[in-house]
Amino acid sequence: MKRIAVYPGTFDPVTNGHLDLVDRGRRHFDGLIIGILRNEDKEPMFSVEERVALLEDAISGWDNVSVDSFDGLLVDYCKRAGATVILRGMRALSDFEYELQMALMNRRLEPEVETVFLTPTEAYSYVSSRLVREVARLGGEVEGLVPKTVATALARRLSPPTPSGRDPR
Ligand code: PNS
Repeated sequence: MKRIAVYPGTFDPVTNGHLDLVDRGRRHFDGLIIGILRNEDKEPMFSVEERVALLEDAISGWDNVSVDSFDGLLVDYCKRAGATVILRGMRALSDFEYELQMALMNRRLEPEVETVFLTPTEAYSYVSSRLVREVARLGGEVEGLVPKTVATALARRLSPPTPSGRDPR
């Protein structure tokens, strides 16, 4: 039986920390699906389609990794995808409480699906999508924290509109 894991998240946008975790996780499973939650309530910077495209670009070359999006309960998506494992990253103690609550709730909802935690390399232990968005918004340098395509997408998203009002994209 193939062991499939889902790595769920918002990925707004994907960071090098996420990719480090994907690279670690993919070595332990036959298939790893990066599942992007469709949740417009969070008013994301990038649409789901844009996030899928940025992730697909970042994972090219890893043949047992794929990208998908889902809504509704994560455990229901896992069942539909044939996954028995939820993969999550644990960067620091501050992640623990939130992650424990989610893991226990998911276990209550579906005892057959196990949550597995991996830690990213310490170089990325402070990196989050929220901080990357904030730094980029305020004009800071995000090189080295996100893939080049994401840095470019952030710069384009945050560039001021042209005087004609036309979007240069
Ligand atoms: O990267 P994030 O934003 O911390 O990811 C959170 C995510 C997507 C894993 C979580 O919000 C989720 O699984 N949402 C789906 C809804 C769900 O299943 N909720 C109940 C179980 S906690």
